[in-house]
Parts: sequence; structure tokens; C-alpha cells
Amino acid sequence: MAEKDLMDKLVSLCKRRGFIFQSSEIYGGTGSVWDYGPLGIELKKNIKDRWWSAMVHQRDDIEGLDAAILMHPKVWEASGHVEGFTDPLVECKHCKHRYRQDQLEEAQCGRKPSVRPGEHPDCDLSEPRLFNLMFRTFMGPVEDAAHQIYLRPETAQGIYVNFLNVQGAARQKVPFGIAQIGKAFRNEITPGNFIFRTREFEQAEMQFFVEPGTDEEWFEYWMEARWKWHVSLGIREEKLRFEEHGPNELAHYAKKAFDIEYEFSFGWKEFEGIHNRTDFDLSRHQEYSGRRLQYIDTGSGKRFIPYVIETSVGVDRTLLVVLADAYHEEEVEGEERVVLRLQPSLAPTKVAVFPLVKKDGLPEIAEKLHRELRAAAVPSFYDASGSIGRRYRRQDEAGTPWCVTVDGQTNEDGTVTIRDRDSLAQIREPLEGVLPWIRERL
Ligand code: GAP
Repeated sequence: MAEKDLMDKLVSLCKRRGFIFQSSEIYGGTGSVWDYGPLGIELKKNIKDRWWSAMVHQRDDIEGLDAAILMHPKVWEASGHVEGFTDPLVECKHCKHRYRQDQLEEAQCGRKPSVRPGEHPDCDLSEPRLFNLMFRTFMGPVEDAAHQIYLRPETAQGIYVNFLNVQGAARQKVPFGIAQIGKAFRNEITPGNFIFRTREFEQAEMQFFVEPGTDEEWFEYWMEARWKWHVSLGIREEKLRFEEHGPNELAHYAKKAFDIEYEFSFGWKEFEGIHNRTDFDLSRHQEYSGRRLQYIDTGSGKRFIPYVIETSVGVDRTLLVVLADAYHEEEVEGEERVVLRLQPSLAPTKVAVFPLVKKDGLPEIAEKLHRELRAAAVPSFYDASGSIGRRYRRQDEAGTPWCVTVDGQTNEDGTVTIRDRDSLAQIREPLEGVLPWIRERL
């Protein structure tokens, strides 16, 4: 498979199987916004559940939060986003296309995609100007500057403004963290690569509050923990790497930052950032709100503004990594098959149940098994249409780890076949053994 085709193939598989659709497609689509279909939403939920389990449920020192998207506009002044969350934008005065100045090398000319902006004789590029990436809207019926608010460009600020609320209510002691998953919005100048860079996306962020002076060791700790989490999703380790931000790449709030990158078909790209944000955010919120945001250690009596180690992963980007890593094309008995080798715990559908033929009572047995699996909260899919080969192929593309077939022998000895998506091995199990067999493997 030519690597550069992979993204196109994924886009069409995602549409065909109901993972991801273009937003408002019947109106010609909305720029770089995507909708998750029946399988996509399950995969996304499974990824988020794994993150929440690792970051909140399995730990005593991290609390969960779900802060609102709309926040007081001063939050974004304090955070530095009003002033500093900008990209340099260049406009072609001729064709009106806009580009990020720092991405001109990779961009395509709006008139002639085979050349770069500036290379076509008609190109007339403007001087760069700073473009703020925050979406603006108005709170209430009056549309003036006093009522202007923003759609949050990161979820982290909801955590900072609630730092003392959570710490007090949960009686946590530093070091401890606050985690949340939620939507974020950025009016990206050059979105693209399917769900990689979009204008509406989801982040899973955790801010870990530590005593100043211990921040560097906690940074190391979180780098290792987050790497292991990605590997635990089944992502091939050789496709992952750390990349440190150079002094000119650091965000306005960061003292040190490492990205976790994945090798996509369009190059090595970041999908998680680990940042040492020092006491920048809490200090700024203390200054702008006039409220003390100090932590008081009840044991030692020490007072300080904690440093923050942030782990920030894009949910949509992780989903793209999971899909790209799971996508395989191979030949089986002279026929090509496309298979998503998703880890069973991530797969949207865990099992598909088929009657081999639509007679001899086989559909009734298969449907009964399917209902029993569903009643036991195992996502099961019943399919009686098309040849058995086609039914297998559909499930391979959906990443379903096991297919159960009810056949003639079921009527004789009460057994069914279970076919493994990856090895293609088929075994026979008694009907009543199917549920425990699957549970054991999940
Ligand atoms: N709170 C820190 C922060 O937001 P970031 O590096 O700007 O840091 C963190 O974003 C993660 O959010 C990225 O690694 C990426 O996975 C995701 N992300 C950022 N912008 C995105 C976009 N336009 N589309 C999809 N995901 C995005």
C-alpha cells in the first residue's frame, strides 16, 4: 500500500462503515468539522473511558472536573490567549486564500495546487499579520464589546479557575491533579488531514499541581506515564517518539514541553503535549481576579502557588492514531481484505453474530444469542444478509474482533464457530459458552 494513500483510504472507510462523516455534508460540508457516526462514537467513547480510567479511577491523587465551555472573558486575558494565541497569517491579495506564514513551505497555492503560495505568477502575498485563533461570540442579546465572550481554545483554564474549589472539596494535598475531557475550539487558518487539525475538537487534559522545585521530576514521571498509556492502547511503539520544543517553539506559558508524536502517512505529528506550565496560569489568575490562589500545606504551614505539569492529548487525534495504526490490507485466499486490528477493548462492536443460512431455524438461534449478548452489555451486531465472506469482510473493516456463526452443526450438537479477526482461526464453542469466552478476552 502506498503510504500517501492511507489517509484517503481511511476517510472512505470511515464514511462507509459509519465512523466519521463530514459535518453538514448535504450542504456541501463545513470546513474541517466532522461528525462521529455509530461506530465512531463508540470508538471515541472507549478511548475516553480508557483515559479516564487511567487518569482518574485508578488513582487517589487525581480528581475529575467538567467545566463549562463559556467562561468569563477575563479568563482569556489572564491566560494570555487574547494577546498571544495567534498565528501569523499571510493572504494572497489576488485569490484571497489565506495561509499560515510558518507553513508556507507545505502549503499549496490556491490557484495551482502543484506549486507553493507565492510561486504562481499571479500570487501577491501580503505581509504577515497576527490572527487570533479564538472563536468569538456574544453573551445575551446585546452584541457589543462588553458582551463578547470566547469559545474555549483549551480546557485547561476551567481547571485553573476551579483549583481551590476542587482541592478544598476533595481534601486533596499537593501533589495532586485535576482531569477533564471536553470540547475546545480554534479558528485554525489551515486545518486539514481529516480529523487531525479541525476547528472543533476534544481534549483530554490533566493539570498536576506540585510544589515548586519538584516540577522537573514530576515532568519526567508524566512523560513516562503518558508514553505507557499510548502503548497500552496497542499503538506500535516504533511509530511513536518524543519531540522537545525548542526555545522558539514554546507556548507562552511553558518552561519546558515535549510532544508525543506519531508517524502518520503525512509525517511525524504531535498528538499529545506534556508541558511544565510553572505557576504562570495560577499567578495570572490571582493577579487578574484579585483572589488568592495559594495552596496552604496544613502540615508544614507552607504557602505557595503550585507549579503545574500538564498532560494534554487530543481525543480526535488519538482516534486518528488508533485508526491509522490499526489499518491493514492483506490477501486472504486470493482476495484482498481490509482489516482494522483494533484492540478488542477499543473495538466499537465486540462480536457479530451470523446465521449461516436463512433457514432451518438458524436465524432464530443466532438472534437469540445476539440478544443475550446485548443484554449482558456486550456490543453485538446481528447480520443475516449477503454471503458469509462478505459479512466477515464488513466486520473486518469495522474492527470487530470476533464473528460467531450459527450453522447446520448447531442444530446437531449446540455448538457455533467463533472466528478470530486477526488470526482467522475458527474454533467451536457451545452456544452457552460464547458469552463467558468473550468476557474472558475483554
Ligand atoms: N492546554 C494545552 C494545549 O492546548 P496544545 O498543544 O495546543 O496544548 C494539545 O494542544 C493537544 O490538543 C494537541 O496535542 C492535539 O492533540 C490537540 N489539538 C490541538 N489543536 C487541535 C486541532 N486544531 N484539531 C485537533 N486537535 C487539536
